[in-house]
Amino acid sequence: PRFDLVIVNGTVVTASDISTCCIGVKNGKIKTLAYEFDQDEIEGAEVIDAEYAVPDTVGYLNLGAYVMPGGVDAHVHLCQDLKTGPHGLGGECADNFDTGSRSAVAGGTTTIITFATQTRAEEDRSLIKVVEAYNARAESTGSYVDYGFHIIIVRNDADVLENELPVLIKDWGISSCKLFLTYETQRLTDSQLLDVMFAARKHSITTMIHAENGDMIGWLTDKLEAKGMVAPYYHALSRPPIAECEATNRAISLATLIQNPILFVHVGSALGAANVRRAQTMGLPVYAETCPQYFNLTWDDLKRFHSPTCFENSKMICSPPPPPDTNDHEELFVSLQNGTFTIYSSDHCPFRYDQPRGKPSGVLEHALSMEGENHDCHGEELKDLLLRKNGAFRHVPNGIPGVETRLSLLYTGALQTGRITPQEFVELTSTNPAKLWTLKPGSDADIVIWHPEKSFKPFNLTNSMLHHNVDYTPYEGKEFTNWPRYTILRGKVMWANGEIKGKLRDGQYVKRGPNQLKKDSPRLDKDPRRVAAWLYD
Ligand code: URP
Ligand code: ZN
Ligand code: ZN
Ligand code: ZN
Repeated sequence: PRFDLVIVNGTVVTASDISTCCIGVKNGKIKTLAYEFDQDEIEGAEVIDAEYAVPDTVGYLNLGAYVMPGGVDAHVHLCQDLKTGPHGLGGECADNFDTGSRSAVAGGTTTIITFATQTRAEEDRSLIKVVEAYNARAESTGSYVDYGFHIIIVRNDADVLENELPVLIKDWGISSCKLFLTYETQRLTDSQLLDVMFAARKHSITTMIHAENGDMIGWLTDKLEAKGMVAPYYHALSRPPIAECEATNRAISLATLIQNPILFVHVGSALGAANVRRAQTMGLPVYAETCPQYFNLTWDDLKRFHSPTCFENSKMICSPPPPPDTNDHEELFVSLQNGTFTIYSSDHCPFRYDQPRGKPSGVLEHALSMEGENHDCHGEELKDLLLRKNGAFRHVPNGIPGVETRLSLLYTGALQTGRITPQEFVELTSTNPAKLWTLKPGSDADIVIWHPEKSFKPFNLTNSMLHHNVDYTPYEGKEFTNWPRYTILRGKVMWANGEIKGKLRDGQYVKRGPNQLKKDSPRLDKDPRRVAAWLYD
């Protein structure tokens, strides 16, 4: 047959165009785009009907059945354990590459980038060893989607940076590192940040910054605890928007000095977004990622079910926290619309509520009631919990699940409401992350097909519909107006009409190259003395 797979009657959307056409796929690649196919052309191919209505009215483009590039989620935490955890707060990720990638594909995502973490332990000094160990975790299960790694760097060892960054690029195609301005086990001082940024610039590695002021957070946390304000809600008060404002501003200054492109991860405040915008207006290579939680949750969500002993709302704790109220959502939507936000990722960071190594829960109350008695009944796990026995937000693992709900939340809240165009949707969720992290050629047949809007009945989400290994979703009960109907990975149907069709070994590791976005500042380069350009002589 001429094609292996054809998609007919679709409204095909790319970052630049939208058109009614058919797609012919051969050997995992998009081979032909055509207004229509003759019957003999599609003989022998699998046919997917996107059920596009005959365009007989002016508003026909709103009828849906969008066919888009598969989602690229550039911020996913999988297989991070107590030691290599996302932040050293004692949590263990509930999803591995099996359950995490299954959840991704069921939500329309075909590529994820996850985090391999250096630690401060001597044996985790080598970035190469860290990546090898992390890769072994991915290979032990396989993945339903294509995957790559970012490296998290928590030390400024000159020899490691000098010798290993080139190997990471060459052997592993890892061209991005994440650096922290908060979390005791992760954060770098300004001087250490300059060391790593300088090495990263030299080796064409893009630095991603977790921008929260760790000192402000630590100081506020002490003050809140002294007043007994330890419930999950107060986690948000320990990280008010000004903590992100200061840290984004500082990191922009450091990166300007180094002349290094940076991407701020999980920007959740209007103040942070404003700093990014100002830097972009000056012509600096500053990019920003945002996430669904900053458009769908507020501080009030951390309050739900609140009682002195109930920690159920620890489920909602993530960093940066959701913004204070819905006015902030509107402000953040402006930054989504005007291009301040380059990419939209999930920051899927899965912890179970029913496990001691997850979010403190009813098990915590049990532990407290057993205080002074023999806790051997639960062994090491209970001891770990007791270490966090005050249940203070300080000890709650930060992070919420969302790899599966990412695209549908943006569809429901921004595309269907007209806040962004279908093309902008594609740019934020797929094209920009692919450009920024240089993933795969656009000719790969990674495709997500939605339901036609005219026939899709909105539904209220329950966690049982999801495919992650987490026992809750922050979006329980929320109404969704669409959901991916088909997810196609390199021409293979992986998800169709509510069922997983693909296999765990279908996903492949993706070696990446240096980013394709602009690197230097046209403005500041004019006077190289101001930005220490003599460093590069
Ligand atoms: O609370 C969050 N976002 N946890 C994940 C770790 C991180 O900083 O990305
Ligand atoms: Zn982070
Ligand atoms: Zn994260
Ligand atoms: Zn017990």
